[in-house]
Amino acid sequence: MIGKTVLITGAAKRVGRSIARELHGAGCNIVVHYRHAAEAARTLTEALNEERSGSACCLHADLLDVRALAALVDQSVAHFGHLDALVNNASSFFPTPLGTIDEAAWTDLMGSNLKAPLFLAQAAAPHLRESHGAVINITDIHAERPMAGYPLYCAAKAGLLGLTRALAIELAPDVRVNAVAPGPILWPEGGDDFDSAERAEIVAHTLLKHEGSPHDIARTVRFLLADAPYITGQVINVDGGRTAHL
Ligand SMILES: NC(=O)c1ccc[n+]([C@@H]2O[C@H](COP(=O)([O-])OP(=O)(O)OC[C@H]3O[C@@H](n4cnc5c(N)ncnc54)[C@H](OP(=O)(O)O)[C@@H]3O)[C@@H](O)[C@H]2O)c1
Repeated sequence: MIGKTVLITGAAKRVGRSIARELHGAGCNIVVHYRHAAEAARTLTEALNEERSGSACCLHADLLDVRALAALVDQSVAHFGHLDALVNNASSFFPTPLGTIDEAAWTDLMGSNLKAPLFLAQAAAPHLRESHGAVINITDIHAERPMAGYPLYCAAKAGLLGLTRALAIELAPDVRVNAVAPGPILWPEGGDDFDSAERAEIVAHTLLKHEGSPHDIARTVRFLLADAPYITGQVINVDGGRTAHL
C-alpha cells in the first residue's frame, strides 16, 4: 500500500489510532481526523511524520456538522493530492433506554455512526472511483444482534451495516466497500458503562475467552484494504467467536 492515502475518522486514540499506525506501517499516508482529541491527534501525527516525513496530517471536524464532511474530504485531497481509502471509525456510544430517548441522543448517535459515514462516502466517492479505492466502515457485532439498553446505537450501527452493502452496490465496480464488526475490544472510556461482572460475562461469551485488541481490528482493516481485491459488500466479525453463540 505504499503511497496510498487513507482518511481515518476518530483516529487520535484507541482503535482509530491503532488502525492509523497499522496502515502507516504498511506504507500509507494517513489523515488523522479528530474532534476533541487535538493533543492526541497532534502527537500521533508528529510520530508518524518522524517515521516518514510528510506521511501524515491531522484535520479537525465535528462529524455532526454535515457541511464539515465534504470539507474534510476536500482538505485531505488538497493535502495529499489523492484519496485511496476512507475508514469510518468515529462513533459515539452511550445507553439510551427506551423512555429516555430524546432528539439530542438521536442526532448524536445517528449522526456520528450513520449520517456522517454516508456523507463522507458520498464526498469521497469521485476520488475513490478515480483511485479504485475502498471504504471500510467500523460497525459492531450488535448491529445484527442488538444489546439491551442501547437501541439507538445498535440501530445506527445496523444502518451502517446496511449502508455498507448499499454503497458496495452504488460504487461498484470501481470502489470496494466492506465493514469490520468488533466484539469486545476496548471498554468505553470513563468506565461507567459496564461493571466488572458484566465485562466478565461478555468475555465469557467469546469462544476464545479473552478480549480482543485494537490491533485485531487494525490488521483486519489492513487485510481488507491491501489483500482482498475480490471482497466487497461484506462484514467481518472480529469478536473472538462471540456471535457464534450470541
Ligand atoms: N471498543 C470496542 O470494544 C468496540 C466494540 C464494538 C464496536 N466498536 C467500534 O469500533 C470503532 C472504534 O471504537 P473505539 O472504542 O476506539 O471508539 P471511541 O473511542 O468510542 O470513539 C472514537 C472516536 O470517535 C470520535 N467521535 C465521536 N463522535 C464524533 C463526532 N461527532 N465528530 C467527530 N468525531 C467523533 C471521537 O473523537 P475525539 O476523541 O477526537 O472527539 C472518538 O475518539 C467505533 O466505530 C466503535 O463503535 C468498538
